[in-house]
Amino acid sequence: MRAVRLIVGGATGKTGAEVVRYLAGQDDLQVVGAVGRQHQGADLGALLGWPALSGVPISASVGHVPAEADVYVDFTAPEVAVALAMEAVGRAMRVLIGTSGLEPQSVSLLAAQVQRQSLAAAVIPNFSVGAVLQRKMALELGRRFGRVEVVEGHHRSKRDAPSGTARDLASALEAMGVETAVHSLRLEGLVARQEVWAGGPGEVISLTHEVTSRQAYGAGVAMAARQLVTVSGFFTSLEELCPALTARD
Ligand SMILES: NC(=O)c1ccc[n+]([C@@H]2O[C@H](COP(=O)([O-])OP(=O)(O)OC[C@H]3O[C@@H](n4cnc5c(N)ncnc54)[C@H](OP(=O)(O)O)[C@@H]3O)[C@@H](O)[C@H]2O)c1
Repeated sequence: MRAVRLIVGGATGKTGAEVVRYLAGQDDLQVVGAVGRQHQGADLGALLGWPALSGVPISASVGHVPAEADVYVDFTAPEVAVALAMEAVGRAMRVLIGTSGLEPQSVSLLAAQVQRQSLAAAVIPNFSVGAVLQRKMALELGRRFGRVEVVEGHHRSKRDAPSGTARDLASALEAMGVETAVHSLRLEGLVARQEVWAGGPGEVISLTHEVTSRQAYGAGVAMAARQLVTVSGFFTSLEELCPALTARD
């Protein structure tokens, strides 16, 4: 079977660079193009010092990537991610967006276009497996205790607050009628951390998930990309796109 061909937007960024390193090690996936701003025309492998990615050019937009691909993966910035995804859909590609802080209206337009073309797209707030499991347990805490507080902390250069992961969890809890509060920390030394707290008479419980390296996202992106080429529709979480992740045996 031929490998799933990927274009990665933001492949030179903090997250994108770790993700493409992981993807380059997967036999059934092939990074064929990259999108970036400052290094257009450069060779991704040479730039990242990763020979498996040599020959992959960095282009100004998805439309400028010379190779054909099956999936566009985006870790860029909120003001450009949906426009790049729309270009990918225009090339009949499936789309996987990791970028957070997107305008809900532009996401709705993307979803509508994807449905019209019978393609598939997913906007995933968190690609790490631990975060998916924490979300599942947090919903259970909400059901049992009726009130949940979320404390999310990220590195200082993160532009959106609260994080996409915390917003997604808060809206799922609120939809269940759970009283929810979210607190954000932006500190040097943090990569990404989320605590979920609940309390009842005489007890408190907290669940902590911490990303200590952005390597945590690679496996989730690979899983999502493999799944995306087998489905159509619009997905808003890793567990919705890949139900096997949280299914019981
Ligand atoms: N869903 C998840 O699991 C997850 C995990 C981690 C991060 N994220 C999200 O992913 C996004 C990226 O985070 P990061 O920390 O990796 O950011 P970053 O280090 O600033 O990297 C951003 C990347 O996007 C590129 N870029 C920015 N503006 C662009 C434009 N107009 N056109 C083309 N390329 C552009 C940058 O290229 P230049 O350097 O050339 O400008 C860079 O390669 C954020 O929204 C973050 O919240 C999501």
